Amino acid sequence: MSLFDKFRPLAEARASLGDHDIPPIATPIDDISSAAEGVIGGLPVILAGTNNYLGLTLDSEVVAAAREALEHFGTGTTGSRMANGSYRAHQALEREIAEAFGWPSAIVFSTGYQANLASISTLAGRDEPLLLDSDSHASIYDGARLGYAETVIFRHNDPDNLDRRLARLGERAKNALIVVEGLYSMLGDQPPLAEFVEIKQRHGAWLLLDEAHSFGAFGRQGLGLAEQLDLLDGVDFIVGTFSKSLGSIGGFCVSPHPELELMRLAARPYIFTASPSPAVIAGTRVALRKLVDGQPLRQQLWQNIHRLYAALNRLGYRLGSDQPGPVVAIILPDRATALAHWRGLLDVGVYANLMIPPATPKGMNLLRISLSAAHTSAHLDHIIESFEHLRLAA
Ligand SMILES: Cc1ncc(COP(=O)(O)O)c(C=O)c1O
Repeated sequence: MSLFDKFRPLAEARASLGDHDIPPIATPIDDISSAAEGVIGGLPVILAGTNNYLGLTLDSEVVAAAREALEHFGTGTTGSRMANGSYRAHQALEREIAEAFGWPSAIVFSTGYQANLASISTLAGRDEPLLLDSDSHASIYDGARLGYAETVIFRHNDPDNLDRRLARLGERAKNALIVVEGLYSMLGDQPPLAEFVEIKQRHGAWLLLDEAHSFGAFGRQGLGLAEQLDLLDGVDFIVGTFSKSLGSIGGFCVSPHPELELMRLAARPYIFTASPSPAVIAGTRVALRKLVDGQPLRQQLWQNIHRLYAALNRLGYRLGSDQPGPVVAIILPDRATALAHWRGLLDVGVYANLMIPPATPKGMNLLRISLSAAHTSAHLDHIIESFEHLRLAA
């Protein structure tokens, strides 16, 4: 008997992928040459499997701000904001996020994962009703566990199902927190947000929208799906991450309710962890400005999205969503085909993501591409030609 015995099924599942010179899961990235190019297995590749939607990771002003903060403030904050002190720049970033939304309050966390963990576990406390979409990200499910909420799962993107489950709560619905995402990262599909907002308003419930993947890509200022659909007034909390469009690491919760500030006093993933490094905060502040002013970046991103969607549809691929977006999931019939597609693309210099169960919904085998404003027209030509060749070879 060993503590490690319980990992055996996972190890077996991992081993069943076979031996590969370049592993398809946790693929080592040898080097980064630009926001959209790198080196894998010693060969240059187009990075089409990162979440670098606006390509800001190597923006010269973002890097300069991070470098300056690194040199001035040092490598880390070495502690929690509550216990060890709250740097001015962290507070400034919170103000800037709140101002972008036109709301009174925002809180910054050390990761997007912790933003969900903190927000959900404190807003939906012990035995309080929490309604989660079945396809929710792990950080949302983990937030439910940390807060000991009474968790009710509704069918993915199904407003009627949510409506019925809220109705069953009776008066308790007024104290219920509903959580949905602005863009689901596995299939790249979007929620019927207007219907969810109508339902939450009719029941007097509360709505938290996780815009991790939609922040930066959707909306005039890049604030996400709620901005794009003019539904910011119908949302109570928005959670976002710095690790995708903003190109760094960290997360936030922003709200029209000034009482959000109280969360700082209760949220364990805020209180009991070190705050983000000064360099991360400085880079993120510049990236946020670029995101809000980033219409040209978004135009480029959407041009790339429409090109790839049109090409994959023309080639007859089954896609995870018919609503175009920066996450493009190609549903393949089985694991072997998905693996062969993944490797076929890599061999011609395109790095995408292989996504297989248990990470995927409904046991699907996916090849997932995330597009970026940093992808040039030549990158798109090459990605599309690579799919054409794979299709011919199939
Ligand atoms: C929907 C969603 N929420 C939260 C997170 C966590 O964000 P981070 O990776 O920045 O911690 C992710 C990460 O992929 C995500 O997809």
